[in-house]
Amino acid sequence: MCKVAHILVLFVLTSPATRALDNGLALKPTMGWLHWERFMCNTDCDNDPDNCISERLFMQMADVMVKEGWKEAGYEYICIDDCWPSTHRDAQGRLQADPKRFPGGIKKLADYVHSKGLKLGIYADVGKYTCAGYPGSLGYYETDAQTFADWDVDLLKFDGCYMDWTLLGEGYINMSKALNKTGRSILYSCEWPLYEWPHRQPNYTAIRETCNHWRNFNDVYDSWSSLKSILDWTASHQDVIAPSAGPGGWNDPDMLVIGNFGLSHDQQESQMALWTIMAAPLLMSNDLRNICPRSKELLQNQHIIDISQDPLGKQGYLSAKVFSFEVWERPLSKNRLAIAVLNKQEIGSPRGFAIRAVPGWKICNPQCNVTQILPQYKEMGVQTPQSKMMVSINPSGTALLTVTPISSDFKMQKLHWQDMSISRKHSTIL
Ligand SMILES: *[C@@H]1O[C@H](CO)[C@@H](O)[C@H](O)[C@H]1NC(C)=O
Ligand SMILES: *[C@@H]1O[C@H](CO)[C@@H](O)[C@H](O)[C@H]1NC(C)=O
Ligand SMILES: *[C@@H]1O[C@H](CO)[C@@H](O)[C@H](O)[C@H]1NC(C)=O
Ligand SMILES: *[C@@H]1O[C@H](CO)[C@@H](O)[C@H](O)[C@H]1NC(C)=O
Repeated sequence: MCKVAHILVLFVLTSPATRALDNGLALKPTMGWLHWERFMCNTDCDNDPDNCISERLFMQMADVMVKEGWKEAGYEYICIDDCWPSTHRDAQGRLQADPKRFPGGIKKLADYVHSKGLKLGIYADVGKYTCAGYPGSLGYYETDAQTFADWDVDLLKFDGCYMDWTLLGEGYINMSKALNKTGRSILYSCEWPLYEWPHRQPNYTAIRETCNHWRNFNDVYDSWSSLKSILDWTASHQDVIAPSAGPGGWNDPDMLVIGNFGLSHDQQESQMALWTIMAAPLLMSNDLRNICPRSKELLQNQHIIDISQDPLGKQGYLSAKVFSFEVWERPLSKNRLAIAVLNKQEIGSPRGFAIRAVPGWKICNPQCNVTQILPQYKEMGVQTPQSKMMVSINPSGTALLTVTPISSDFKMQKLHWQDMSISRKHSTIL
């Protein structure tokens, strides 16, 4: 009897020379905080003043971001999601903040956030209404772009509810142009492909020219099953979506929910490792005023953030499924490789994985230097192609490592890895 292992065969592709939105932003995956998953549409400031969507929440979060090392770790944008506006536009047709919950207005909030050295994000919708039913921007793209610029906003998350799907592209492109026309650099976060996928395969060349990042799939929930569905969707569409990621534009698998209620610590490590491999924006949605020290340490882990922000700017991909392990790999600058091995056998004890089984291990020739980052930082030292090195991974946990080739023929490895792209074909061997 032979055991069956699925190995996804990698084909070397040259990256398509797709242009990114030319606004000088998101050259590395965006890092920050976004209110939605944790605070949703809580507008009840009478009964829940600490958690309702109000200027107070964002000011407190900004304070904590500076005081508790978040800003220093790289988290920069503090982002408002849905449910901030008044239900009516003003007499000039402009969006306005809910006067009770944002008595100072958005401009004053932006000034406050800027005074802390951070940036402010806001939310609107390409269609007639936002997803929660507040006024949408359809028919008001130029007005709303100018309003956000006048308020000194730094990022716009533009949702796709209440929009005729055949007009999604036009709407997102028109808003992109309207933002450009204001002359203010505003990072543009889209949901165009998410709303187009149910009807047809979106045009990622056009999306990359229009947006700085784009949501493809369902909202993240505070659960392991939600994270798995996002990873599965990403893996099964990686041929289409991964090549469109690079400096200036990124696939967005939605927020980091680390530090909330639904994930074990191993699962939190899995989200941090795999979002990093996917070159995803790292937008946390949690309560930074009250977060457990281990989650904080994980989110601020500089070794992981260095991989996220790697200057090569390539998105990683699922490269193999072996004995209920998933191997994900991300090419890094200087011919290095990041490897995440996820243990998907959700029963039993920690299991060992032989690192030489990773498809990309071939860069370890004649030698390489391996550093394990998760679950613990460990310098594994110099290894060879025949390495016996094992990593031990808990059920639903992930080991994250970097591999640095040590080579006498630097040039040849460069040739091999530089244009390394994504798997093209699945095949079963063994
Ligand atoms: C607007 O677009 C032009 C051309 O693509 C670009 O050079 C310019 O920097 C953009 N301006 C802003 C504010 O994004
Ligand atoms: C986009 O702009 C074009 C040109 O102004 C206009 O004809 C079209 O109706 C706009 N589409 C949407 C959805 O706003
Ligand atoms: C996708 O968009 C690009 C850029 O806007 C365009 O040149 C190309 O023709 C589009 N492809 C398809 C299949 O529509
Ligand atoms: C291996 O990597 C570690 C961590 O970056 C470093 O401290 C060590 O000097 C490296 N060893 C070699 C032989 O390059």
